[in-house]
Amino acid sequence: MPIPPSTPSMSPSRIGLWFIGARGGVAATATVGLVALQKKLAGTTGLVTDLPPFSRLNLADWADFVIGGHEIRAGTLLDAVDRLRSDSRVLDAALVDECRAELAAIDRNIRPGSLANSGATIAGLAGDSMRGVAAERPTETIGRLQRDLRAFREEAGLNRVIVVNVASTEPAHEYRELPHGWETLRGYLESDQANWLPASSLYAIAALDLGMPYINFTPSLGSNATAIDELAHLRGTCHAGRDGKTGETLLKSVLAPMFAARNLEVMSWVGHNIFGNLDGQVLDDPVNKAAKVKSKDALLGKILGYDPQTLVTIEYIRSLGDWKTAWDHIHFRGFLGTPMTLQFTWQGCDSLLAAPLVLDLVRLVELSARRGERGLLVHLGSFFKQPLGMEEHDFSRQLLRLRAWADEAAG
Ligand SMILES: NC(=O)c1ccc[n+]([C@@H]2O[C@H](COP(=O)([O-])OP(=O)(O)OC[C@H]3O[C@@H](n4cnc5c(N)ncnc54)[C@H](O)[C@@H]3O)[C@@H](O)[C@H]2O)c1
Repeated sequence: MPIPPSTPSMSPSRIGLWFIGARGGVAATATVGLVALQKKLAGTTGLVTDLPPFSRLNLADWADFVIGGHEIRAGTLLDAVDRLRSDSRVLDAALVDECRAELAAIDRNIRPGSLANSGATIAGLAGDSMRGVAAERPTETIGRLQRDLRAFREEAGLNRVIVVNVASTEPAHEYRELPHGWETLRGYLESDQANWLPASSLYAIAALDLGMPYINFTPSLGSNATAIDELAHLRGTCHAGRDGKTGETLLKSVLAPMFAARNLEVMSWVGHNIFGNLDGQVLDDPVNKAAKVKSKDALLGKILGYDPQTLVTIEYIRSLGDWKTAWDHIHFRGFLGTPMTLQFTWQGCDSLLAAPLVLDLVRLVELSARRGERGLLVHLGSFFKQPLGMEEHDFSRQLLRLRAWADEAAG
């Protein structure tokens, strides 16, 4: 049953934040970050919603959020956080120690997820708890995921639950005769004609069918289907995606408009990415990597209006852990055709760049849900590499759209 919307002016007192991939790098960092904000151990640098005009909105307080999630790997959330701290030196040891009790409590809200059509590399990560659900049909999986979501909502006394997909990138899926209408897709699911749908889409259907907003921070298919969008409309809820724009692609969406505006012709754009976290390990499989490369490469032609030669590589270098280096080489020419070069090196900590965006998205989506917005939240396009429902890829123009929404929401 969808949750009745609360009044936009009222900030609901308890909101569930349900991570798919709850013990992964992004989820673990966002969880530590949220607990640190709740305990006033951290500042708000990196959080877009702490800036005007968003800070003027009636956004939920950090204290309002309760975390749970689905996961496929064994181990605890504390293990994941400790690995980020010790292997990658992402998190401060004293900060982690201050949050241990809360992290242990959150771990008790994490349930076995689904591996449906996730490919061999992701299946290879799975813990023993996934054995019992391996033979499920799609409708059985959706039913089980919904029982977990409902139990979380009821046991924690939540007004609303927002589901965020931060699970590993699935192999690139192509649509196969996916119907446009939700009722037909439901029939397909019941008759097993849609048994190729990946887990990311089953999670999206499970959430949206319960009236819970769904955010896809990954390149996986998720809610990117007309029939699933219709489900969101029918249940009076909303969704957003796809693939968080945190580093190299963010720079592309800032720099490419400059070349276009100065009538400089980009002849080629090469981007080499190296990093060594679990995401990198999964992306080392060519079928998973294909989904990510497509996501990082698609925007240039759309911004420039022509397609320069491009190359995107992603290589797993274990010693780098969560620290990603992107080296981009942009070959361009201007007046009288003389070639010139721009190169940049981006050295970012992947999880620390992603975590605040996830928290911002959750707050913004929560307000949209409270305002009764339905379907795709197009104004959130600046957060994503493949902004669903938005053709605009220029970062500054995407931000104008977000600010216009904020002005309207502020009344
Ligand atoms: N800067 C960033 O870190 C960034 C930016 C944009 C997008 N993303 C995307 O966000 C996702 C998470 O990134 P990460 O660095 O946290 O990766 P990660 O590998 O550390 O975490 C992914 C987690 O998802 C779990 N998982 C895999 N399949 C699952 C399933 N079907 N159901 C439930 N859990 C599942 C894994 O066990 C793991 O714990 C990836 O898809 C990544 O491409 C990350």
